[in-house]
Amino acid sequence: MTPLETAARTAQHAPSVLNTQPWAWRITGDLAELFADPDRRVESIDPDGRLLLLSCGAALHHACIALNAGGWGAAVERIPDPARPDLLARIRLTSEITPDPETQRMSAALCLRRTDRRAFTDQPVADHELTKLRRLVEAAGAYLHVVRPDQVAMLAISTELAAGAELDDPAYRADLRRWTSRPSFTGDGVPPATAVRPELRRVPIRDFVPGGSAGLRAGAAHDAGAAYVVLFGDGAQPLDFLRGGEALSALLLMATADGLSTAPLSDAVEVGWPHHLLRGLLSGIGDPYLVVRLGHPAPGEPLPPTPRRDPRDVITVVQ
Ligand SMILES: Cc1cc2nc3c(=O)[nH]c(=O)nc-3n(C[C@H](O)[C@H](O)[C@H](O)COP(=O)(O)O)c2cc1C
Repeated sequence: MTPLETAARTAQHAPSVLNTQPWAWRITGDLAELFADPDRRVESIDPDGRLLLLSCGAALHHACIALNAGGWGAAVERIPDPARPDLLARIRLTSEITPDPETQRMSAALCLRRTDRRAFTDQPVADHELTKLRRLVEAAGAYLHVVRPDQVAMLAISTELAAGAELDDPAYRADLRRWTSRPSFTGDGVPPATAVRPELRRVPIRDFVPGGSAGLRAGAAHDAGAAYVVLFGDGAQPLDFLRGGEALSALLLMATADGLSTAPLSDAVEVGWPHHLLRGLLSGIGDPYLVVRLGHPAPGEPLPPTPRRDPRDVITVVQ
């Protein structure tokens, strides 16, 4: 298998909204092209494709980390052809490189990272860790706001409002049903076994099976030590969200490498008024892309893995 094929396969581990994995790869020689798959956009919560682009950006970053950790340099061209908006990036192999330790640590975290929707312990996330993650996100072309303790209530209200509005929307309920009841051969979607039952939380998490039964309990911990961060940017163009997704991947992989658990929360950015409230948390300096909960996991069972699509359905190698 060529390094680009290996990288595209590794990118299958990337997180994506409702585990839609809305990307496709086409590999020709030393060139890999990443495409968005618009048929996998979740219309009710993502009419503009922001969450789709964040997901594809995460896949792009995963692929680059895999290449770099494997000793390959990669030149990336983002949104290279405005006439083909679904072509999100071109990765060309360059010379051989010696991977830096940070890349190697992120690469080791690629297969370990999982979205952990259970509650995190009272142990706070250290300030130096949050500073490190903020710098990493900035280096990847986005920004990170660490939600202050006095802002957590507003984050909780925004999320609660968004969740309520979405559950009132029949189109959302249909999308949620679709992506939580996928037949196993599709290798996508969020299986109820990986979802957590709604319980009182500092900031509520998405209820993936309203009225049904999710597989996991939040646990005895209460998220008291959890840190909530808002990934944001100063633009709202496709390139901004693609880069935002790359920054999200860097954040999640480094946090995982450092022993933290992570869980993206996008409800509040999906609905107009809650999104506006989140903007207020940033004092209006940017556009909120996504919230991430970070924390120390409580001891417990390992999380069941979330499925992934068959690489043959996602990666085309042109001989
Ligand atoms: C853009 C984006 C939005 C997401 N929003 C949520 C969310 O609101 N709630 C949640 O529990 N998980 C959310 N996730 C996590 C996905 O559900 C998760 O990545 C996917 O199910 C694959 O599982 P894994 O992360 O464990 O590999 C989001 C991920 C991305 C990339």
